[in-house]
Amino acid sequence: MPEQAPERVAWDHVELTVGEVAARSGVAVSALHFYERRGLIASRRTSGNQRRYRRDVLRRVSFIRVSQRVGIPLARIAEALGTLPADRAPNVRDWERLSKAWRTDLDARIEQLERLRDDLTDCIGCGCLSLSRCVLANPHDALGHDGPGPRRLLVDEPE
Ligand code: FES
Repeated sequence: MPEQAPERVAWDHVELTVGEVAARSGVAVSALHFYERRGLIASRRTSGNQRRYRRDVLRRVSFIRVSQRVGIPLARIAEALGTLPADRAPNVRDWERLSKAWRTDLDARIEQLERLRDDLTDCIGCGCLSLSRCVLANPHDALGHDGPGPRRLLVDEPE
């Protein structure tokens, strides 16, 4: 049986299948389905119940990937995409506005990590692990304000 050449998609195709979006974006089909369930991208269904995506979905997927790469949670990405008209992908101006917000987020996280690193440096060689005195176990005596008894060690859970 002759080997079939991989299916090639012309750039001027108006709609793409999920496999074509996956091939062009490098994002797994399962991830695309996940993005769709979370409302980050949208498709229409054919009469055979197959997904079809507008070609500009590729730019949305790229926006999602870049945002995830800098650690932005999907919920925030969805929020950002929700500020755009549904009938088009993020353009250069959108990206400029939204990426500035990502930059602010990134700066805040770097600052937080630097504080944690400094606190950890204070803990190195101490080893007390005291729930009342350790700067990491009880930052700024925050747990003391919550009343007596054991408290949670981590306040902010990553998404
Ligand atoms: S382990 Fe002693 S201050 Fe953190």
